Amino acid sequence: MRVLYHGNAARGRNWQEAVSRALPQVRFECWPGAGDLTEIRHVVAWTLPDELIAALPNIEVLFSVGAGIDQLDIARLPPGLRIVRMIEPGIIGTMADYVVMGVLALHRDLPFHISEQRAGRWTWRNVSPANECRVGVMGLGELGRAALAKLALHGFRLSGWSRSQHQAEGVECFAGDEGLVPFLAQCDILVCLLPLTSETRHILNRTTFAAMPRGGRVINAARGGHLVQEDLLAALDRGQLAAAMLDVTDPEPLPAGHPFYSHPAIILTPHVAGITRTDSAVHSLIDNLARVLKDEPLVGEVDRSRGY
Ligand code: NAP
Ligand code: GLV
Repeated sequence: MRVLYHGNAARGRNWQEAVSRALPQVRFECWPGAGDLTEIRHVVAWTLPDELIAALPNIEVLFSVGAGIDQLDIARLPPGLRIVRMIEPGIIGTMADYVVMGVLALHRDLPFHISEQRAGRWTWRNVSPANECRVGVMGLGELGRAALAKLALHGFRLSGWSRSQHQAEGVECFAGDEGLVPFLAQCDILVCLLPLTSETRHILNRTTFAAMPRGGRVINAARGGHLVQEDLLAALDRGQLAAAMLDVTDPEPLPAGHPFYSHPAIILTPHVAGITRTDSAVHSLIDNLARVLKDEPLVGEVDRSRGY
């Protein structure tokens, strides 16, 4: 079986060696430089440029190197193409750490304290314990569940919202459209870990913020397209929200001078929350390639009709 890799060259060489060692029957080739592409059926990539799509008439499975797949323009891909997202401990662990960092930072008023420090002021603010703070996670998938498990170690009061009903020990679970407002009404800190789909685009908007308790905080570690930027700025101005932490924006990077760079109540990071680790992700890829060889179900296959 031939597998074509498109992406970071150093990672490509590393994965080529690891895949060849684990699965000698797989020929792992890096683009550019691979031979005749017309017979390639399995591709590993973050996204596919048009020229590559055109050169791959027999592509059957696309393995994303990331957890999300919204970077792919699905409408341009062949209708029968199977898409598999990356589920691997590197992304999951770094994301859970990021969410814990963000929740602690917002719970302990870090944006306010940093802004006071910069202004040369020594301003005391009341401190409340973690078990008085209600944290709600939108999305109870691989990342949402891992984040909640790490947040539980700090004693926060936890809830989650998803499309279908979930059950998780120590987490109050809400689901669907009818569960959204009751969920938001009890979120002091709201964390977005949803996939970006036509249903979730712009879900972090003025109506959502208005449904939260006044003075709430928001963390978006999913995709920039989830947030209506003007609504966040307006909610911060009005005091409906007290602070936000954003790892993702639309576009990325934001243009110079964008208000998010300098807003005292916003912490901005450059899409570093959950990072695919070359050394751990290759094991997930090898496992899936072995499944292809055995004609077994693939781990992380996307339901194209749902968009995630
Ligand atoms: P996942 O395992 O597919 O989980 C998605 C969760 O979202 C599921 O619980 C799903 O509900 C829920 N959901 C989807 N559509 C919904 C809707 N319309 N209403 C309510 N809930 C909905 O995804 P994941 O691996 O946790 O990753 C989530 C996202 O994180 C990725 O898609 C990516 O965009 C983002 N991400 C960001 C970074 C970063 O560095 N910032 C890194 C990695 C990933 P059900 O359980 O009911 O299906
Ligand atoms: C990163 O954003 C990913 O989707 O893995």
